[in-house]
Amino acid sequence: MNKAAIIYFSGTGNTKYVVNIMKSYFNGINIICDLVDIEKKVIDLSQYDYIVFGGPVFVERYPEILLKYIEKNLSNYKGKCMMFSTQASDVVSSVFQHALKRLKNLNITYCDFISMPNNFYNFMFKKYTDDEEKRAIEAASKKARQMVKEFLEGKESKIEISNFRVQLAEVGYKMTYPYLRKWLMKKLSIDRDKCVECGLCEINCPTNSITISPSLKIKDTCTFCQRCLNICPKNAFLYKGKNIEQYKPNFKQEIK
Ligand SMILES: Cc1cc2nc3c(=O)[nH]c(=O)nc-3n(C[C@H](O)[C@H](O)[C@H](O)COP(=O)(O)O)c2cc1C
Repeated sequence: MNKAAIIYFSGTGNTKYVVNIMKSYFNGINIICDLVDIEKKVIDLSQYDYIVFGGPVFVERYPEILLKYIEKNLSNYKGKCMMFSTQASDVVSSVFQHALKRLKNLNITYCDFISMPNNFYNFMFKKYTDDEEKRAIEAASKKARQMVKEFLEGKESKIEISNFRVQLAEVGYKMTYPYLRKWLMKKLSIDRDKCVECGLCEINCPTNSITISPSLKIKDTCTFCQRCLNICPKNAFLYKGKNIEQYKPNFKQEIK
């Protein structure tokens, strides 16, 4: 029986939701599908007939930890690969152009993005309404299946965007990402009356970048994935002195 692996990183659950939909599609057509969460497993990927990989877009790029994992563990893979992203915008970003430059050896025949609710609204852009969120999740579920179907059928999908757009994204990245930590550090704090020092934010950080005692510190390795803020059981993080609105999307819709 054919086997597929989906390699992914998910900061706050959007990508995880999508990969579960993809897995159920593979399983529905009798293809065994293993999910490879890059934070948990390194496995022999040569045993798979199909490889899918993806993650969120953070300022027009994949998180560095995802790219590094793929470079390290997939560079000798000779089969066809599908690459996808989850992102807030419904307009294509330059995530794939950037990734393709880094992953030159891979045979990526199919790539596309899936729009999902924005998880960065505490700092930038706006929060989806419940209705927008529901519609985005439903549409994402349909698109995720369609993408896997087309990939398996051998349909080639490459996203072409103009050089100007790629360069603009490059400038956007260089002008924001390296400064995000400093900017956030000035405005983020912890409500010590609420924080119970359970350590969940520290233990769950994918890059071991946060410490909260004796004071809040975030290392340069932070990817800004937002997990620490959203996982806090007491919602004790403050932004500009005010409580953060935690990202708790309703993924309870049935995964068919
Ligand atoms: C630091 C940061 C930067 C982001 N940059 C973009 C972006 O450039 N374009 C976009 O469409 N969405 C952007 N987003 C939104 C996320 O890509 C989107 O919500 C994604 O689905 C989150 O996936 P996850 O929950 O699996 O981590 C950004 C989110 C964060 C936290």
